[in-house]
Amino acid sequence: MAVTPGALTPGTPQGWSRRTFLTRLGATGGATAMYGAMDALGLVPSPANAETVEFVPPRPGDLPAGATGRRRVAILGAGTAGLTVAYELGKAGYDCRVLEARDRPGGRALTIRRGDRHTDTDGVTQVSGYDAGQYFNAGPSRIPSHHLTIDYCKELGVAIEPMVNANAQGLYYHENTPTVDYGPLASTSVTHRQAKADWYGYVSELLAKAVSQGALDDVLTADDAERLVEFAQSLGGLSGGRYVGNNRRGYTEAPGAGDQPGVVDAPPPPLSTVLQSRFGERFAFEFGFDQAMMMWQPVGGMDRISAALADAVGRARISYNAWVTDISNTSTGVRVTYRQGSDVRFLDADYCVATITPMVLRTISSNFSTETKEALAVPVGANTGRMGIQFRRRFWEEDSSIFGGVTHTNLDVSGIYYPSYGYFGRKGVVVGYYSGAYTNLTVPDRITRALDQGVKIHGNAYRDEYENAFSVAWPKNPYTLGAWVQWPGGRGAAYTHLLQPDGNVYFAGDHLSYYTAWQNGAFLSARKVVMDLHARAVATA
Ligand code: PHE
Repeated sequence: MAVTPGALTPGTPQGWSRRTFLTRLGATGGATAMYGAMDALGLVPSPANAETVEFVPPRPGDLPAGATGRRRVAILGAGTAGLTVAYELGKAGYDCRVLEARDRPGGRALTIRRGDRHTDTDGVTQVSGYDAGQYFNAGPSRIPSHHLTIDYCKELGVAIEPMVNANAQGLYYHENTPTVDYGPLASTSVTHRQAKADWYGYVSELLAKAVSQGALDDVLTADDAERLVEFAQSLGGLSGGRYVGNNRRGYTEAPGAGDQPGVVDAPPPPLSTVLQSRFGERFAFEFGFDQAMMMWQPVGGMDRISAALADAVGRARISYNAWVTDISNTSTGVRVTYRQGSDVRFLDADYCVATITPMVLRTISSNFSTETKEALAVPVGANTGRMGIQFRRRFWEEDSSIFGGVTHTNLDVSGIYYPSYGYFGRKGVVVGYYSGAYTNLTVPDRITRALDQGVKIHGNAYRDEYENAFSVAWPKNPYTLGAWVQWPGGRGAAYTHLLQPDGNVYFAGDHLSYYTAWQNGAFLSARKVVMDLHARAVATA
């Protein structure tokens, strides 16, 4: 069953009972569905009356000249939030030091390229065998035009290009389950263009019919009834009030030169077949405020943003391979203990900003208050992951004219994402799944299973053209222990508690925003903490 959280606004999930919704959600299991649940269930208090605070970057003159105290900041984590805190505080001359457990910046903004190596919590190591120039974004991969992420790309000079998040040529594929029969279109790939033509066509016909039979007379004036029918005609591409198919579906014989008008692919399947396919329930994805085109990606990989941030912060301020082992408030500031290789080191600062995910942060010793420790214990790491599969031939482009975009399925792969770069190239990396269903499979089993699923949609090319793959299971990533944070029961007291510092230690990250699972959330949270910390530093300087 298709549940597309992008279409769900906080509040009632479109008239469904909470129970129906949960049941349906359970049946899909896709990563995006899982994410949407929190908001869609209305468990999230809406900040309807909250005032938007405008961000003002700290300026050099804000801190009293010559005052050297109270401006050392220890930042834990060189992901988007941590680097942004260092970058923005750096503008005012704060002395920032960033500790990062990985050997690179970016956190979950992870782009896998040739030779990249990762070891999971279960000790399994993968090394990427992609060709030079091929890559896959294992974490964030799409940026809507209205996110702060775009502002930072502009400010930092990171080039962006379109990320194809919706494509008329993309496919829908629904396979029967023990509880749902998808009718004659089960286990059939149908293009987005064709599904849209049929669903809009029939629904428009029904609407026009209902109006003309007077079923809506109690809510429509005669003039409005006429306008509504006109709208239905155009939305559905109706002929004489009926949907009989049209060239929006495509052609069985393409129009050509001279005397070749082409043959429209008609008639459409009967109404009941179209309804049984349930493809229409997937359309709302592309209506989502944060999923609607235009969507963007940095040229060359999502990690170009963190690389630019790290450059702006300065290499000397970031320590890699630094595992934090203790965070302690002291009478004057903070002492962070960390391990680098076999050395145990200390970083003393006036303030600390911890951007480590709560799932990891709660495993690190500290002298935080009981309330803070209890709050850090609340969030749950979301289970999802992705696999980037390198194929030796771009068969989705060559055989199916799919240039970027997504195929949405009810298989456990959830979506198949085609690369929005490298068109016409010889090879390409496709995201074979975006799902939590593969987390506990061995790496070889993930590959076998993902290829089996893809064959259902693309035929044997999906297996025959396979070259290599790299998969990321976020719950098994030791640096994050989850793809993103879920707040059971919604953002409650724990969330609110962590918005305040524990002594001299502030907390930041996308999990402390209303943009969980978006870099936008990391930027927003970082900016908020920068303003809070700066106001305090100025007041006590
Ligand atoms: N930002 C992530 C994505 O676009 C996770 C997410 C999915 C967030 C759906 C909101 C809605 O895939």
